[in-house]
Amino acid sequence: MDILKKLTQTYGPSGRESDIKELIENIARPFADEVYTDALGNLIARKKGNGKKIMVAAHMDEIGVVATLIDDNGFIRFSSVGGIYNKDLLGRRVCFKNGVIGVIGSEEENKDRKILKMYIDIGAKDKETCEKLISIGDMAVFCGDFYENNDTIISKALDNRSGCYVLLKTLEKINSKNDIYFVFTTQEEVGLRGARTSSFSISPDYALAIDVTDTGDTPDGIKMATKLSGGAAIKIMDRSILCDSFIRSKLAELASKNDIPYQLEVMNYGGTDAGAISLSGAGVKTGGISIPTRYIHSPSEMINKKDLDSVISLLSVFLEENYDK
Ligand code: CO
Ligand code: ZN
Repeated sequence: MDILKKLTQTYGPSGRESDIKELIENIARPFADEVYTDALGNLIARKKGNGKKIMVAAHMDEIGVVATLIDDNGFIRFSSVGGIYNKDLLGRRVCFKNGVIGVIGSEEENKDRKILKMYIDIGAKDKETCEKLISIGDMAVFCGDFYENNDTIISKALDNRSGCYVLLKTLEKINSKNDIYFVFTTQEEVGLRGARTSSFSISPDYALAIDVTDTGDTPDGIKMATKLSGGAAIKIMDRSILCDSFIRSKLAELASKNDIPYQLEVMNYGGTDAGAISLSGAGVKTGGISIPTRYIHSPSEMINKKDLDSVISLLSVFLEENYDK
């Protein structure tokens, strides 16, 4: 799991994916026939074939915060980059690209804290001192160490570096006749942006997005069937897509045939790259395989190792299948 650890701990908020892209590129290069980057920063690793053209996407950006103003006392006001839950921010550590770590504080004591009333404290004594380290527009991500035991992984950015890990592991081991584009997309957390442009230029026959999905199995949980350790989650729908029925049933059929544990995912909220891909160009038959994840968008996202293996196995058999031309 050393690779996954590195992937989660590397800096890469939306629009600032260069570090994480470099790491992924170095891992992918030996296994791909072609590796390139497009205008929006999407990293594309292609494994050539003369079968179907299949795009597999995993976003490499993570949520974060962006410095909007530095006040006279050296406190950094900020805004969110992606879906940050304001209520949980107090006392959290965030880390800037240059390694500077700050703590989030708030002017307000009550529960519905507004982000406008919050600040990042890096311990600077005044504005000038702060400005030596941080500029307006600099982004920070949550600090959240990587922990693993036999079954479980806890870390920041498992959304969606675990998806990137799935793509890398699959790229490494598959043997397929299909023409496969492994796409590590940018700016998913701010509106599925990189997926849209990369899908337009690739124009695949089929596409799959690999991302995390919520679970309904915690005491505070939402009503959702997906659970941790329940296997690879085959996406039926989320707010951005109704998945292609051929792809859905193919995934379920292949999972049963190959004894890969799986479950079905209906997510009532949120979108994924799958949605943007399906609507790009003249439309693309798109589905998704998700990694069940607790505490999404917190510094302590939690996944199960067997689920991760199931997602890799299911993606591999889908990509290795021969489809009629
Ligand atoms: Co996310
Ligand atoms: Zn995600």
